[in-house]
Amino acid sequence: MAIFLVLLFFFTFFSIPASSQLDAFTYNGFGDPKTNISLNGVALIDNNGILQLTNETSRLLGHAFYPSPIQFKNSTSNTVFSFSTCFVFSIHPEYPKLGGHGLAFTIAPSKELQSALPSQYLGLLNSSNGGNSSNHLFAVEFDTVQDFEFGDINDNHVGIDANTLKSNVSAAAAYFSDDSVKNDLNLKGGKPIMAWVEYDSVTNFVNVTLSMSSSKPKTPLLSYQMDLSPILLENMYVGFSASTGLLASSHYILGWSFKMMGESQSLDLDSLPSIPGTSNNKHTSLIVGLSVAVFVFILISILFTIFVVRKIKNAEVIESWELEIVPHRYKYQELKQATRGFKDSELLGFGGFGRVYRGTFPNPKTQVAVKRISHDSKQGVREFVSEISSIGRLRHRNLVQLQGWCRRGGDLLLVYDFMPNGSLDKFLFDEPKCVLNWEQRFKIIKGVASGLLYLHEGYEQVVIHRDVKASNVLLDGEMNGRLGDFGLAKLYDHGSNPGTTRVVGTLGYLAPEFSRTGRPTTSSDVFAFGTLLLEVACGRRPVEYKTGPEDVVLADYVWTKWKEGRIFDVVDQRMKGEFDHNEVLMVLKLGLMCSSNEQLARPSMRQIVSYLEGESELPEGLRAPGDCGDHKGGFEDYLHSFASSSFEKTSSYTVLESGDVDRSFPSFSTSPLTLLRGVGEAR
Ligand SMILES: *[C@@H]1O[C@H](CO)[C@@H](O)[C@H](O)[C@H]1NC(C)=O
Ligand SMILES: *[C@@H]1O[C@H](CO)[C@@H](O)[C@H](O)[C@H]1NC(C)=O
Ligand SMILES: *[C@@H]1O[C@H](CO)[C@@H](O)[C@H](O)[C@H]1NC(C)=O
Ligand SMILES: *[C@@H]1O[C@H](CO)[C@@H](O)[C@H](O)[C@H]1NC(C)=O
Ligand SMILES: *[C@@H]1O[C@H](CO)[C@@H](O)[C@H](O)[C@H]1NC(C)=O
Ligand SMILES: *[C@@H]1O[C@H](CO)[C@@H](O)[C@H](O)[C@H]1NC(C)=O
Ligand SMILES: *[C@@H]1O[C@H](CO)[C@@H](O)[C@H](O)[C@H]1NC(C)=O
Repeated sequence: MAIFLVLLFFFTFFSIPASSQLDAFTYNGFGDPKTNISLNGVALIDNNGILQLTNETSRLLGHAFYPSPIQFKNSTSNTVFSFSTCFVFSIHPEYPKLGGHGLAFTIAPSKELQSALPSQYLGLLNSSNGGNSSNHLFAVEFDTVQDFEFGDINDNHVGIDANTLKSNVSAAAAYFSDDSVKNDLNLKGGKPIMAWVEYDSVTNFVNVTLSMSSSKPKTPLLSYQMDLSPILLENMYVGFSASTGLLASSHYILGWSFKMMGESQSLDLDSLPSIPGTSNNKHTSLIVGLSVAVFVFILISILFTIFVVRKIKNAEVIESWELEIVPHRYKYQELKQATRGFKDSELLGFGGFGRVYRGTFPNPKTQVAVKRISHDSKQGVREFVSEISSIGRLRHRNLVQLQGWCRRGGDLLLVYDFMPNGSLDKFLFDEPKCVLNWEQRFKIIKGVASGLLYLHEGYEQVVIHRDVKASNVLLDGEMNGRLGDFGLAKLYDHGSNPGTTRVVGTLGYLAPEFSRTGRPTTSSDVFAFGTLLLEVACGRRPVEYKTGPEDVVLADYVWTKWKEGRIFDVVDQRMKGEFDHNEVLMVLKLGLMCSSNEQLARPSMRQIVSYLEGESELPEGLRAPGDCGDHKGGFEDYLHSFASSSFEKTSSYTVLESGDVDRSFPSFSTSPLTLLRGVGEAR
């Protein structure tokens, strides 16, 4: 035993100083041929000895790590040692004001970060492992894009992250001059920026300090107390990660020093390599290139007049305001090629507003969905396009992400993430090629609910979807439900006759008050979501003529069965009775609540999400469907307004064939589902 203790003592005493001596290094530039640093992704060391993590190409990621692991923790006491690092970085965006995405000083268990993604994930994490304590990831992010998904404060911030990209603390990029005056700093300004990250093992403070010169300001930008011991493992790799998304920047590291248990060696900006070509050169070459192109174009036009006439007809006129729009603007030719000239063989379907094509981009081979919308009014398209920048910033894992767009005259092309499993309606109605089990259905419902909650409450402004329905719910590779077409319905407002509002929406999903006022609300989205809930549980369309006349409207049918105490009769037969009865019951009740005629009786999306997640119970008095004969109190009362407005009159629904709502429409039917058909909308 004594020998063991002596050995242990010997081991701890001698091994740590030995390793800590190694754990200090300095790179004054990376040009020295003996420089040893592990690169992966697209990271490289350029001819000037600068470490380039990414270039200005979309969706790249690059990593650079010190080649050997570093001991960060005393394994006996489980405390993280103090460390400090200093580095100089520089970010050159493709477009001067638009960065993409950012870089991060990283401490990670591996040098490869193998399943990490580019774009908002900064090459650190992927869409499913955020927040998992098994990541053992610590990062200081220098982020030039505002991602609402991660609660980013702006598009020019510094944040401290632990295991997730939701920063524990962040601040707009700035540095303090000697007199402690705070100066704003533009991360993507192209100038070299010096940064220090320090951790004090006694106080557990992480400090992040920025500067535009070699001297370190006294005041850190971020000073945050956090215990790193649960986050870091004993041996970790230290380095950098960067990524680009739709928009791209070159991310450079010019120099780097690091030290365990002590202050890292200071760097001198003047002795580091500098970045040659600025973006100005690039622009000059672009202008030269354009001039040549114009010249050639004119030449060709003289020679081939007929060809030119055609060419001009098709020319893509880019107006100056379009360049301000944030999501990527694709070239028409690029999309035409990707969809093989909008060939029928690439047609994925007819979306709410136009045809949807599969597009394939080469290098790296990626698939997208391209929606082609024709609008009679150029004005409408123009106003809509100016909204694309706000729609393009909506980010949520249950929304189909808008990747970019292109406009040509009255033609609008929208580029979305490709959803390999198509739309939900294909799995529910008619003869689905594959029957979803209840678990899958419930997951889809919950996903759509959380996407819709994000639109209603998670963004800087309320976004009303206006066209929630099964065919607008798309399924990704893992069968998660994602809402598509958000914001698109607005297109129909722009450029329509002033004074009239067209009813946009789909037969069977329109809330009754919407047809009176013509004004969409979050509550009308909830109504449509209720219809979706019933569809998913019952596996039939909201309006179907195949069945008897009293069963045409799905909500009426479910209600009738509910009253008869035979609620499980309505459940999709194809599930062969294999489902969680409590969940199905909850979904059906929730579907009925949302379909209430009474706007105020409908729950909010926030309540719906909490019911679905089992965080709260549906309103009290819920009883087994068998008890339904008794109409006193509870859920029945809750639905009273819904029921008493005469569910019996179901066949008297109204269909307006014209799209414009007649506001003077007299004594509107009180049938629970008053059906209107928006022009060109019903399929
Ligand atoms: C950027 O890097 C990618 C991947 O290494 C490469 O294919 C591409 O040519 C580079 N682009 C430029 C402009 O250097
Ligand atoms: C770089 O460092 C790693 C890890 O310490 C080592 O395995 C490798 O041999 C080194 N490479 C060179 C070229 O020195
Ligand atoms: C590591 O922890 C042990 C036990 O708490 C302590 O005796 C030793 O001094 C620590 N070593 C260092 C380098 O802090
Ligand atoms: C995300 O990363 C984890 C490892 O951290 C990996 O197990 C998982 O498969 C990845 N998920 C995706 C969707 O790539
Ligand atoms: C965390 O990640 C591990 C390994 O990748 C995985 O087994 C575990 O399920 C994840 N936990 C959560 C809550 O996602
Ligand atoms: C971090 O900043 C705080 C506040 O300015 C300071 O008191 C502390 O000494 C700093 N810690 C380190 C390790 O620099
Ligand atoms: C950082 O934030 C996450 C949530 O985003 C939280 O779980 C974690 O406890 C925080 N860590 C520290 C050290 O404050």
